[in-house]
Amino acid sequence: AESIRLGILGLGTVGTGVVQLVNEHQSELQHQTGSNVEVTRVLVSDINKERGAELEGVTLTESYEEVVTADDVDIVIEVMGGIDHTLEVMKEAFKNGKHVVTANKDLLALHGTELHEAAAANDCDLYYEASVAGGIPILSGLKSGLSSDRITKMMGIVNGTTNFILSKMKDEGRTYEDVLKEAQDLGFAESDPAADVDGLDAARKMAILGTLGFSMNIDLEDVDTAGIRNVTLEDMTYADRLGYTLKLIGLAERGADGVHISVEPLFVPADHPLAAVKNEYNAVYVHGEAVGETMFYGPGAGSLPTATAVVSDLITVIKNVRLGVSGHDNVAAQHQKQLKPKSAITSK
Ligand code: NAP
Ligand code: HSE
Repeated sequence: AESIRLGILGLGTVGTGVVQLVNEHQSELQHQTGSNVEVTRVLVSDINKERGAELEGVTLTESYEEVVTADDVDIVIEVMGGIDHTLEVMKEAFKNGKHVVTANKDLLALHGTELHEAAAANDCDLYYEASVAGGIPILSGLKSGLSSDRITKMMGIVNGTTNFILSKMKDEGRTYEDVLKEAQDLGFAESDPAADVDGLDAARKMAILGTLGFSMNIDLEDVDTAGIRNVTLEDMTYADRLGYTLKLIGLAERGADGVHISVEPLFVPADHPLAAVKNEYNAVYVHGEAVGETMFYGPGAGSLPTATAVVSDLITVIKNVRLGVSGHDNVAAQHQKQLKPKSAITSK
């Protein structure tokens, strides 16, 4: 079988999971794509660091050009994070005809339209399932399974780190700082965990969900955002006594007066399904006019769950290439601009 060669940007929590999955699920990849899939190049910031990944025959480099312009790279997987520099790196990848799969919600939420345009201009695919809710196929659900419906509401827990912190504070009586440290050690938190605890990571994910679910361009500043930094053990005990559980909830609603999107800590009744979502798990409730209520649930962060989303996107890209079709995201990009009804965004 023909080989598809991967260049991976980043070899941290997610990149290591991607390498492991590609190595260990070769038969699934071959079955799905008819190809051998191999990692040929990996970008890191420190080439001398000890790596917990099987890298035989892989070229490690500190120069992104050696990945995104390389002849022995067909598809680029961006799992290093970052915004401005990474935007340029991804554009360079598209210019060199490389399809890109990314887990980077920061970049998608801030520069989604620009990225889609750069991909389309170079006839390349751009997929980013891992950017929202880790291993849960929520973006495929919106882009594919529910695409015929008119989505009216999306609500849920979309940040694993804060849900891990709130769950452990409630169930184990541990302090915020102690649990945040554990979430960082487990690889759930962003490189700057302020993005998690201040609600920004969840806001970025809600902007991506809103853009896809409502077919309009939602900017990050359209999302009213508050985090959990000031939540105390006393707040948790108080909520518990009243029959509530404190959760960081993302909400995106389409009403007669427009769209409202927010992220904030809320008291959820203890018997509500979202109250039962614990630790790094995420859940997204989606209501569509025709389908009614649906619920997506699963691990929202972590190495292998996130890698599953990345590698599944990779399979989609390889199938697109085989069939000679462009990813449907590119079609969405062309429409996205025309559909940007800023006047339809309201604040409560
Ligand atoms: P991470 O553990 O911090 O790993 C980042 C990797 O990228 C490291 O290998 C680092 O190199 C490399 N890197 C970073 N900046 C670089 C640069 N400018 N040049 C070269 N290499 C660079 O991060 P992660 O948790 O895997 O997250 C990666 C991306 O996935 C982020 O966009 C994150 O938001 C997203 N994501 C993460 C999760 C999760 O559960 N962790 C889930 C969904 C999405 P060194 O190893 O040499 O330091
Ligand atoms: N820091 C993110 C979270 C990683 O905790 O949800 C997954 O996007």
